[in-house]
Amino acid sequence: MAGKEELSLSEAIMAAGDAFHRFPLIKVQGVPLMCHIVHNWDSIWAFRPDPSDLLIATYPKAGTTWTQEIVDLLLNNGDAEVARRAPTSIRIPFLEIHSPPPIPSGLSLLKNMDPPRVIKTHLPFKLVPEGFWKNKCKAIYVARNAKDNLVSYYHFDRMNLTQPEPGPWDGYIHKFMNGELAWGSWYDHVKGYWEEREKRNILYLFYEDMKENPQREVERIMRYLDLSLADDVISRIVELTSFKTMKENPMTNYSFFPKPVFDQSISPFMRKGVVGDWTNHFSPAQTQLFDEDYKRKMKDADIPFRTDI
Ligand code: A3P
Repeated sequence: MAGKEELSLSEAIMAAGDAFHRFPLIKVQGVPLMCHIVHNWDSIWAFRPDPSDLLIATYPKAGTTWTQEIVDLLLNNGDAEVARRAPTSIRIPFLEIHSPPPIPSGLSLLKNMDPPRVIKTHLPFKLVPEGFWKNKCKAIYVARNAKDNLVSYYHFDRMNLTQPEPGPWDGYIHKFMNGELAWGSWYDHVKGYWEEREKRNILYLFYEDMKENPQREVERIMRYLDLSLADDVISRIVELTSFKTMKENPMTNYSFFPKPVFDQSISPFMRKGVVGDWTNHFSPAQTQLFDEDYKRKMKDADIPFRTDI
């Protein structure tokens, strides 16, 4: 091995060894973030994208990986082999992520890529480096209904051994409602991008729409990217980005993050991929409490979320 840069992602994670644990969160402008991100906040905030760069922004567990794969395939004319060139997180770096060395940060991956780049972020709108908007970068935001998003995050926090302990389910619901989870309040997140979507030309998508009619949503993304692909290419992209195909694809199913980070024996990254799994988790009392609080928090926003399709 010639140098640290040449370690594969899973080798780098294994090399980091016991540096991994459930990292504490520290707040930036009231938003709790993993401590490694906060320790590098100045360089993240100073990031200057190229005008040709594309941002994919989401609250965690809203369908980021799915959207990343659709975008990568659209940009590569549906070529499955090209999309399998590397794991998702190498092809489309995660802007703010910082982990123990020798794992490359999102910023270091970006530094070694030529624009146009596709960049993932979970940052709420107010924490996205201003260069994205100054440079009029395109941005795709994907939102998922709160209850399914919360269920997915709960299972993710069980298996992602770098996130704080989720604790019991009932308490986790309260942490979500109070904006105490990593990347902060779901409510502020979805509203922040919603309010800015027209001014900033943000394509605002919904997980539920993607499930309901993936072809329609893939075509929507295609038009936003000013691409025009043949119908058979679109059909291929829909097939290649189905839950089943992505669950089996080692470049998209996060099997490239070994156990010190993701313990998929606790819960797989590609878990269920459905709309409405919240009904299997929320008791009637929890639903009532959550819905009442939701009405209060979302009364000023008219975002058309659906909890079933
Ligand atoms: P579940 O935990 O509900 O199954 P993210 O990529 O933002 O971390 O989101 C992960 C969630 O999206 C998980 O939800 C995962 O199963 C789901 N997902 C990933 N790929 C998908 C696909 N192709 N179709 C539908 N859902 C998908």
